[in-house]
Amino acid sequence: MSKYNDIQQHLQGHRSHWLVTGAAGFIGSNLVETLLKLGQRVTGLDNFATGHRHNLDQVRELVGNAAWANFDFIEGDIRNLDDCHKACAGVDYVLHQAALGSVSRSIVDPITTNETNINGFLNMLVAARDAKVKRFVFAASSSTYGDHPGLPKVEDKIGKPLSPYAVTKYVNELYADVFARTYGIQTIGLRYFNVFGRRQDPNGAYAAVIPQWVAALIRNQPLKINGDGETSRDFCYIDNVIQANILAATAESPEAVNQVYNVALGGRTTLNQLYRMMADLLQDRFPHVASHTPVYADFRAGDIRHSQADIGKAETLLGYAPTHRIAEGLKEAMDWYVLNLPPAK
Ligand SMILES: NC(=O)c1ccc[n+]([C@@H]2O[C@H](COP(=O)([O-])OP(=O)(O)OC[C@H]3O[C@@H](n4cnc5c(N)ncnc54)[C@H](O)[C@@H]3O)[C@@H](O)[C@H]2O)c1
Repeated sequence: MSKYNDIQQHLQGHRSHWLVTGAAGFIGSNLVETLLKLGQRVTGLDNFATGHRHNLDQVRELVGNAAWANFDFIEGDIRNLDDCHKACAGVDYVLHQAALGSVSRSIVDPITTNETNINGFLNMLVAARDAKVKRFVFAASSSTYGDHPGLPKVEDKIGKPLSPYAVTKYVNELYADVFARTYGIQTIGLRYFNVFGRRQDPNGAYAAVIPQWVAALIRNQPLKINGDGETSRDFCYIDNVIQANILAATAESPEAVNQVYNVALGGRTTLNQLYRMMADLLQDRFPHVASHTPVYADFRAGDIRHSQADIGKAETLLGYAPTHRIAEGLKEAMDWYVLNLPPAK
């Protein structure tokens, strides 16, 4: 039996109190759903900057009224220390997801990205410290590898950040480390690599590639590939990310704590391959997809050319064992978007 199966079974008989920040967002709403299904008590914090009430409505439908009664939602802002203190009260585990994502957004508006991702992060660390939480798990990012050319990416070999967003995510790691040394708080950073799956927002200028493309394919709209399509990423399905968060929060071995981990599959898929896989999955249901062709555009500023994780550290120290390869994840994600694609904005 996998470590994750063991922990899920344990949680079902033992209720803890979890705080998920960014609860109305893509990853946050998925964490809330899983924790409520495991019988946990959950507080969510979000200011709806990029998250949506309809994500929480869907979670409510999926978990049912009895589990939903264990959820408290605070509409608040991590840039406000009082909101963070309120959210951390009585909490055992923090899964801190709230941030402004997107490399491009950070290039257009570095100040708001900094205020949210650094000042907000620091507020959350202080509030978690004051509330004496058992563990503070936070969303770090593969962007921290910056211009380091090595592949696959290993946690202790990073380069210079290539965007304001990458700076903020690296500063998060530095602050977490200093808080562990200075105040004894237990932290774990999870460097996500291109996460995808249900409830990831397809709308807006800063949408991630998979939801943006699935919406364009279903709606028969133009679809842009930045660069020559040979840029590659280690796309990681949401279920693997949920597993990593729960393993990180509950890991007991002292060597596992106050560390950062890659969370990915350890694979590499080019944008051209990704487009083909998605089109193949959709064309039976949407015949127009067979004649759809992408438009190639310029490379995007701040983007790294190739990204692939070494996931050995998470496997060894956390017992991480991804359940979904890219093909399985894409199939589940496409099925979800076919049924649930939110209206175009
Ligand atoms: N999705 C990915 O591929 C990926 C990759 C690496 C890291 N991450 C990180 O994972 C986390 C979650 O990302 P996501 O993809 O779910 O994005 P998302 O935009 O769907 O979720 C982020 C949530 O945080 C909330 N938020 C933003 N600013 C806030 C504030 N000031 N106060 C309270 N809430 C605020 C948003 O409203 C949103 O609901 C982020 O920290 C992101 O940087 C994501």
